[in-house]
Amino acid sequence: MDGLEFTRLGLNDYRDEEFDCGNEDLNEFFFKDSKDNCKELLAITYAWILDGKTIAFFSVSNDSITTQDVDNFNKFRKRLPWGKRYKTMPSVKIGRFAVHKDFKKMKHGSTIMDFIKIWFVKGNKTGCRFIIVDALKESLPFYEKNGFSFLSNKDEKDLTRLMYFDLKVIN
Ligand SMILES: CC(C)(COP(=O)(O)OP(=O)(O)OC[C@H]1O[C@@H](n2cnc3c(N)ncnc32)[C@H](O)[C@@H]1OP(=O)(O)O)[C@@H](O)C(=O)NCCC(=O)NCCS
Repeated sequence: MDGLEFTRLGLNDYRDEEFDCGNEDLNEFFFKDSKDNCKELLAITYAWILDGKTIAFFSVSNDSITTQDVDNFNKFRKRLPWGKRYKTMPSVKIGRFAVHKDFKKMKHGSTIMDFIKIWFVKGNKTGCRFIIVDALKESLPFYEKNGFSFLSNKDEKDLTRLMYFDLKVIN
């Protein structure tokens, strides 16, 4: 898409003051907490910029799927060759993800998700089999439409649910 940029937001990088996703916690993360997370090497935040305006951001961290996360871990790990050797499954976690309130439901979120999938298959420095996300209830349809599945039924009644996408599908 013309006029589109994608940038890593380091500790001191400028954050578009007009960004507003309509959710106070996520806005606060974008303007403040993302800097602390960067400083502590806990999560890196990226901005999606269209014609100079930040229309979305997401943060990612190294993570893993563990036996506690899945209802039947033995069955789950059978999808990997030599699955029994693995006590955890290498993953990247989307910690935060938000689209500017004026640009929602215009497929920007799905475009970014497609980008993240390819990015972690083709350009990653380490092995990473899954994308995981602790998805807010209201965003579950979005993740399902983007190919994510639930890891467990235990969190069915929680405010967030742990979901995964198997990157092998697009490799
Ligand atoms: C969730 C979010 C990132 C989706 O981004 P988006 O650009 O609006 O999503 P898209 O336009 O790519 O939507 C893709 C599909 O998901 C659906 N969808 C997106 N958000 C939805 C919602 N809140 N409720 C129901 N369906 C939703 C769209 O209708 C679309 O369906 P379609 O393919 O049948 O037309 C965005 O709405 C957002 O920032 N939400 C607030 C913060 C949040 O919940 N972040 C996730 C935290 S884990």
